[in-house]
Amino acid sequence: MALDRKPAPNDLNAFWMPFTANRQFKQSPRMFVAAKDMHYTTADGRQVLDGTAGLWCCNAGHCRPLITEAIQKQAAELDYAPAFQMGHPVAFELANRLIDISPKGMEHVFYTNSGSESVETALKIAIAYHRARGEGTRTRLIGRERGYHGVNFGGISVGGIVNNRKFFGTLLAGVDHLPHTHIPQNAFAKGQPEHGANLADDLERIVALHGAETIAAVIVEPMAGSTGVLLPPKGYLEKLRAITKKHGILLIFDEVITGFGRLGSAFAAQHFDVLPDMMTTAKGLTNGVIPMGAVITTGAVHDAFMNGPEHMIELFHGYTYSGNPIAAAAGIATLETYKQEGLFERAAELAPYWENALHSLKGTKNVIDIRNMGLIGAVELEPIAGQPTKRAFSAFLNAYEKGSLIRTTGDIIAMSPPLIISKAEIDRLIGTLKEVLDTLE
Ligand SMILES: Cc1ncc(COP(=O)(O)O)c(C=O)c1O
Repeated sequence: MALDRKPAPNDLNAFWMPFTANRQFKQSPRMFVAAKDMHYTTADGRQVLDGTAGLWCCNAGHCRPLITEAIQKQAAELDYAPAFQMGHPVAFELANRLIDISPKGMEHVFYTNSGSESVETALKIAIAYHRARGEGTRTRLIGRERGYHGVNFGGISVGGIVNNRKFFGTLLAGVDHLPHTHIPQNAFAKGQPEHGANLADDLERIVALHGAETIAAVIVEPMAGSTGVLLPPKGYLEKLRAITKKHGILLIFDEVITGFGRLGSAFAAQHFDVLPDMMTTAKGLTNGVIPMGAVITTGAVHDAFMNGPEHMIELFHGYTYSGNPIAAAAGIATLETYKQEGLFERAAELAPYWENALHSLKGTKNVIDIRNMGLIGAVELEPIAGQPTKRAFSAFLNAYEKGSLIRTTGDIIAMSPPLIISKAEIDRLIGTLKEVLDTLE
């Protein structure tokens, strides 16, 4: 029997939308009904250029044939297999392919369904890892101001965005934060900024305060995306790595945005040539098409658990949908698309063009900073006095009306187009943004 589904939504009340101004949206809805490659089609039939790869996830663009076909085929062949104590070949194949593109030293993959779940998983593995090695006092977790690590309790505890934290009680105990890396000396820097490597030294202060033997892990985004594209100063990540290593603390890179080619390498760990102990991923893993995440770990992290009787479960953690066959099939087809089309290399090649286009906005009304790396960029606006976020939100609405999708966080406009974007489309995206900014209050 066919589904009895209304042809178009005519009552918007029931759906409580995530991270959305629900009342504003429902008065003036913005609906996408189709997508192909670099464009969305709106409900009123307009084409909108995707300047954000959906939510930083559709790195190969939209409705890519390999991925669509893989999902269709897998859904008809093996729709689900129990994730615990049973396996299926697709999840194993994807894990091997992920290790193939990961930095040397990364050897194991633990599946989740989202970036938030990858973060919770990595934090739990970190604490359990130390316990498994007889260092059960290492339970403290260190995040960073202005970090975004998803929305679950571990993630918001180590995260550093006040609105994501202050409404939700006391969060996890035993968490501390490094300072963020966004400093005024670096305004309008192109690519990786010069100043601020010493901000990593704050970890020594935190270690001195709490004692290294109480700290399990440090988690940072190698490049903070969601809080407005905050770049790591030159030498900063190297310092974090050295200090964590010195004190036996695990280093987790949250690569949910930076993974899968965004900076021109498979992972930021390769781009910066810094090897963490774990990487959290999601989004571009399946090109955003099907929920899936993965925590990728070194051999040492995994092997610490492989003790005790062989019939015993080694890690008491997992999800019903960990390694779901359809998601795994989408993952394989996604990695294959990236490879066949050389999309990571393409991102690296386009990066200088993107940088120049973006920085051409310097001097535009209300623009107080521009930041870029790989195929990611941010344009920071002077907030309207007493009305923070309003100017950027107006820019978002106007750009959408003019046929370009951008994203805002606070008064920062962030852009992260699919890696298939052409130079002409970069010009159009930046041109639209200029027009919008010129005409805004
Ligand atoms: C760095 C980082 N970690 C975690 C997440 C959370 O991912 P999800 O929304 O899939 O739970 C995001 C999402 O933007 C992210 O950017």
